[in-house]
Amino acid sequence: MTQLTDRLVLDFAADVRRDLALVPKQLQSKYLYDALGSSLFEAICRLPWYRITRAERRLLDAHASDIIERLTRDSGRAVPLIVELGCGSGEKLMILAEALQTAGRAGRVHLIDISSQALEQSERTLGRLHHVSVVGHRETYEVGLRQAAAHREHGNPMLVLLLGSNVGNFDTPAALGFLREIRAALAPGDFLLLGADLVKPERDLLLAYDDPLGVTAAFNRNLLVRINRELGGTFDIGAFAHRAIWNAAEHRIEMHLESLAAQSVSIDAAGLTVRFGRGERIWTESSYKYDERQIDTMGARAGFTIAEQWIDDEARFALTLFRAR
Ligand code: TRP
Repeated sequence: MTQLTDRLVLDFAADVRRDLALVPKQLQSKYLYDALGSSLFEAICRLPWYRITRAERRLLDAHASDIIERLTRDSGRAVPLIVELGCGSGEKLMILAEALQTAGRAGRVHLIDISSQALEQSERTLGRLHHVSVVGHRETYEVGLRQAAAHREHGNPMLVLLLGSNVGNFDTPAALGFLREIRAALAPGDFLLLGADLVKPERDLLLAYDDPLGVTAAFNRNLLVRINRELGGTFDIGAFAHRAIWNAAEHRIEMHLESLAAQSVSIDAAGLTVRFGRGERIWTESSYKYDERQIDTMGARAGFTIAEQWIDDEARFALTLFRAR
């Protein structure tokens, strides 16, 4: 455990050192999810202005049995392997696991998340079930996917879940590249269930990513709190503000931390002193918004055919079931 922790802290320090030297300055969004960050994200999912999580749950409630039926249809009594990339609290996977149980099938579940708190919580949630075995991987998507796919047994169908707007946090070329990586871990006939948030009016997007309660701002700024704690940073948290910007040309919401004054910050473990101009920003995440056609095209280019696409019209959110060609 200590060794793992050390490795992760060293990676964190190296990434921070590299990304704060970029122009514009950046920090990777996977580092938002320490224990407090994971709790704040859970809170975001309950905000009236962040509708993704509820929309996706509605779609899963309505279609989980259909998804499980397709997954198990041609496989006799084989035990399906379900892999969730970025499992969060595990609540969505629970809906599919319950549908599996209703269908009288056993299953194997692999959870992949960068956050140990999220992993523990979903292991606890799913651990209550007797018909599924659960394995957690505290890893990035890429490494975790490889580890989970190594457990695939011939003839057992596999379903990969990339839910919420997780795909939206990749740049457009990287999203396609990542779907191809998922496809490479699958056999023909396996499935990918992909959540993707759709383009909607700017006002709704800004409220979702800069809420009136300030929870999203706290979530974003907690990244600086984490750097101070884990890497010996000297960020003055009050001197940075959360900014969410809709970039219409790129179809993405951008999250930034804006320096409210000219200041300099040192980060001991990264061996770094960084200067900020007043108004200078650190770019912490992008959240791309899609239209239905783009989702279809991206899946097709990655080697999938569409089995089904369900849209929640109220929140403008799409859940697409892809089948590996
Ligand atoms: N994957 C989530 C999304 O794109 C993450 C998220 C929600 C987020 N609100 C945020 C990331 C604010 C950074 C800042 O919807």
